[in-house]
Amino acid sequence: MSLHGKVAIVTGGNSGIGKAVVLALAAQGANIVIDYVANPAATDALEQQVAGLGDRAIGVEADVSKVADLQRLISATVEAFGRLDIMVNNAGIETRTSVLDTTEAQYERVMEINLKSAFFGTQLAAKQMIAQGSGGRIINMSSVHEDWPMPGNTAYCLSKGGMRMLTRTAGVELGPHGVHVVGVGPGAVATPINTSTMDDPQKMKVLDAAIPLGRMATPEEIGAVVAFLADEGATYLTATTIFADGGIMHSSPGL
Ligand code: BGC
Repeated sequence: MSLHGKVAIVTGGNSGIGKAVVLALAAQGANIVIDYVANPAATDALEQQVAGLGDRAIGVEADVSKVADLQRLISATVEAFGRLDIMVNNAGIETRTSVLDTTEAQYERVMEINLKSAFFGTQLAAKQMIAQGSGGRIINMSSVHEDWPMPGNTAYCLSKGGMRMLTRTAGVELGPHGVHVVGVGPGAVATPINTSTMDDPQKMKVLDAAIPLGRMATPEEIGAVVAFLADEGATYLTATTIFADGGIMHSSPGL
């Protein structure tokens, strides 16, 4: 596996799954643009880690829920590295609110950060890749919840359901240009988005029992899937989602 000479953007790249994706792509030789909205110190530290692997990384502060910021992110990438080969639409949030109690502001925030960012990230990355003429990979960080209801997290499920169809539809449209669009559907991963679960031993017991592999994923296990999808080994994948969920989506509660 080698991504030498490739350039990747990872949105929401300085923490959680995004950070693991940055390191997994850099380990294969890619140069990386780390998009972030908070914690510049974490971005600086990650840039150093990437440099330690022999690659280059730059941090760009951009709110990917805004199209103008996404455009600036792509321009900064081309300015720094001359091209874009891999776009990882990873930034995401959840509110853990039900259909009965989600506010308009919560709804809009989740949809803008999770789905609007991926839609326009896909559009703008694809335009750059088509202009380069050498195809590319767009990887959408989805969830088992693109398919599987999570009661009490309604807007999040809606955004991931939208991402599912973004991946499929854009994959079909962009295939003739050599631009592959693939989703990654993790289950429960040990990242800050799951802090409320990880801080509650009772909830962790129930969660671990529901996962056939018996534990949450590490962020690195998801980074490894993205590195595979970004590489020349995954030449026949597009318009689909690869689930990496330890089997949780298909497990029964054991009743
Ligand atoms: C959600 C987590 C949840 C996990 C498994 C993820 O997409 O962000 O809150 O624990 O799915 O249900």
